[in-house]
Amino acid sequence: MRKPIMAGNWKMNKTISESLSFIESLKSSAAGISDIEILICPPFTSLFALREQMQGTQIALGAQNLFWEAKGAFTGEISPIMLKDSGCKYVLIGHSERRQYFGETDECVNKKTKAAFEAGLIPIVCVGETLKEREDNLTFKIIERQIRGGLSQLQPQYAKEIVIAYEPVWAIGTGKTASPKQAQEVHQFIRKTYESLYAGCAEGIRLLYGGSVKPDNISELMRQQDIDGGLVGGASLEPDSFLKLINYQK
Ligand code: 13P
Repeated sequence: MRKPIMAGNWKMNKTISESLSFIESLKSSAAGISDIEILICPPFTSLFALREQMQGTQIALGAQNLFWEAKGAFTGEISPIMLKDSGCKYVLIGHSERRQYFGETDECVNKKTKAAFEAGLIPIVCVGETLKEREDNLTFKIIERQIRGGLSQLQPQYAKEIVIAYEPVWAIGTGKTASPKQAQEVHQFIRKTYESLYAGCAEGIRLLYGGSVKPDNISELMRQQDIDGGLVGGASLEPDSFLKLINYQK
């Protein structure tokens, strides 16, 4: 049985005090929930404060990025050990915004993924095609390249733990969600591709869908066989809508 994850990716939103008041509102409502993992990925600056505030709650903490080196002269970067130290359990890697605006490649995703595991973090590796790629019928080719390139040569014990998020770039922040059928088709393909890399591991790993996930489309997405959770931008910024996502109708 794969335990679903509902993950909020706040991107570059919320100051420390805004982050704290969000968790304050969510905390009590989330208290009894144990059948789904709740994850918040705030900006780096809020991590430590949230770690303190989330103690004793069901809410897990994740970062939105990391650098692959442990320490040294890399001005402006944050290492996996620092994230672990700040209370992170998860870290997002290769989000399409990082690929698009900051030039991240599959090779870089691979280095970051390995470094995250080495530090005891669980990577959530993001993949997804652009609108042009979908229109050119390249979706599966792109996804396969991102999976094989980004996730190659993982240690066997790590291969079982990874989380992969499928986020079609054309659905992010646009209000256009992939239909449950479109999403399922790609999720199934991701599982199959992953199985060919790491035999025996694909059935157990969790695959999240991201891209305009909202309270009114989450249930149908979650009913798909290979969708094990959501990676949510906009709708994770307000406690009310995030709570609706956590309590989606099964
Ligand atoms: P939206 O939910 O705002 O479309 O963002 C999705 C996303 O990029 C989550 O990582």
